[in-house]
Amino acid sequence: MNLGIPKESHPGERRVAASPAAAKRFVELGFDVTVEAGAGDGASYPDSAYESIGAKIGSAEDAFGADVILKVRAPQDADGARELDLIREGATLVSYVFPAQNEDLVADLKARKITTLAMDCVPRITRAQKVDSLSSMANIAGYRAVIEAANEFGSFFTGQFTAAGKVPPAKVLVIGAGVAGLSAIGAARGLGAIVRAFDTRESVRDQIKSLGGEFLTVEIEESGEGGGGYAKTMSKEFIDAEMALFREQAKEVDIVITTALIPGKPAPKLWLKDMVEAMKPGSVVVDLAAEQGGNCEVTEPGARAVHSGVKILGYTDMPSRMANVASDLYGTNLGHLLDELGGAGSFSVDLENDIIRGAIVTHDGEILWPPPAAPEPSPAAKPAPKPAVEPAPKPAAAAAPKADAPAATSEGSGFSRKALIGVALTALWLWLRFGSGASDAVGETESEFLQHVTVFILACFVGWQVIWSVTAALHTPLMSVTNAISGIIVVGGLVLATDEVPQTAAIIGAVAILFATINIVGGFMVTRRMLRMFNK
Ligand code: NAI
Repeated sequence: MNLGIPKESHPGERRVAASPAAAKRFVELGFDVTVEAGAGDGASYPDSAYESIGAKIGSAEDAFGADVILKVRAPQDADGARELDLIREGATLVSYVFPAQNEDLVADLKARKITTLAMDCVPRITRAQKVDSLSSMANIAGYRAVIEAANEFGSFFTGQFTAAGKVPPAKVLVIGAGVAGLSAIGAARGLGAIVRAFDTRESVRDQIKSLGGEFLTVEIEESGEGGGGYAKTMSKEFIDAEMALFREQAKEVDIVITTALIPGKPAPKLWLKDMVEAMKPGSVVVDLAAEQGGNCEVTEPGARAVHSGVKILGYTDMPSRMANVASDLYGTNLGHLLDELGGAGSFSVDLENDIIRGAIVTHDGEILWPPPAAPEPSPAAKPAPKPAVEPAPKPAAAAAPKADAPAATSEGSGFSRKALIGVALTALWLWLRFGSGASDAVGETESEFLQHVTVFILACFVGWQVIWSVTAALHTPLMSVTNAISGIIVVGGLVLATDEVPQTAAIIGAVAILFATINIVGGFMVTRRMLRMFNK
């Protein structure tokens, strides 16, 4: 099966869909890889590096004519020739698509029976983290924002005592502590600045602190959690309090990095003109929300502006400014997606696969985007993330706004609550009738058995409720809780398997030990992999 990596033709785009290291994985997955000549030049990957991993260097026609085409940007006009015309019917295209803003493109892809997977539509579920290129790019954008700010700022980030005098450390304010914001906090702290951060979601407090930042708060208590880790629009009172806080901060801070986004909405205006004017001349504002309209009132998207002596950077190509690492991470995300597609050996578009279903836009001459809504969460649930990605207000690059989670409908919530109460009452009745020994109608063995069945039914139902009700962002801590529960199961299983018990119970005990052990070992393996990410 052929796989093509064309050169990106969008003006100023330096990234390529994969670094040679990432492309090596495609070769290992069984693909015959063809890279367009010079595709990696902007990211400092020469053709020879691709050849050394077993890829062929070819023309644009060769790369676009493959069975699977991997790109960063959606196909567009390149030198008057439409890239789309080079893709053949039935091929698979993987790139950013932003289907909500590119209806004509989606219609064209459908008409040409191209299978399209949009990297911007990968659902925000724990399992999909390895495919989540929006997070990979947001991480880069946050880091680069600090570097751009340092480049414009006329002083040190870290404080210094020299023979010539004392230089105070720079004060950095980060607004919005999502993926990009946290990355910016880490980078600014690494350079020695004093970092403050504000976010409407209280859940990021510990993350900010662990990176050495100070979490700023307002006196109004209102949760900014909109589900799936995303934010919601705040009340006018909250925003007023936030503005008052920022007006105070404007007099003190040297650098402001704004990253605040609300899924499917234009970026909220949070750093107003008067705040810019209150800053010291020479201060810097980096607006990472520029592509969605900007958080700062005087941002000029895509450009550097100066307002009352303050430099305002509205660059919208931050990941492309670090094209080398951006192409590597993007390519790694693509490698994981190709894994989900079965590699070259058993390549198939499995619509039952939640990652594929979320990302697919067109297939077999049909438009399959947006995907069906996620199952309704239960009453106790915070809303789970929706696989679809809602439209950003403008065509967006990497760090575009993403989907809001579906609200739990009262119907869905009511059903789950009733079902839970129903099962609990049935289990209670079973226990009272047979299990508590109140009835002489059943023997001791049956009574004990029914007690166990009751506990088993309750455990299944409560477990099901707990798993489905937990926000995807909390799946990792949930894993440690399930590990603890698995530990208890192992102890129970050991007692059953070794005690003087009937044969059947001993077998069930052994099976319980086996499954709980798989769960524990798997949990440790995933934890080890995650910890390895933090090892320097
Ligand atoms: P984002 O790019 O949509 O928003 C950036 C930040 O702006 C958010 O933290 C939001 O709370 C904040 N914000 C919105 N309005 C604000 C206001 N008025 N004032 C101050 N801050 C405001 O978010 P991003 O970076 O894409 O992710 C947010 C969270 O989602 C992450 O922290 C993470 O917990 C979770 N996540 C989960 C993933 C998964 O499970 N696969 C993948 C990526 C992120």
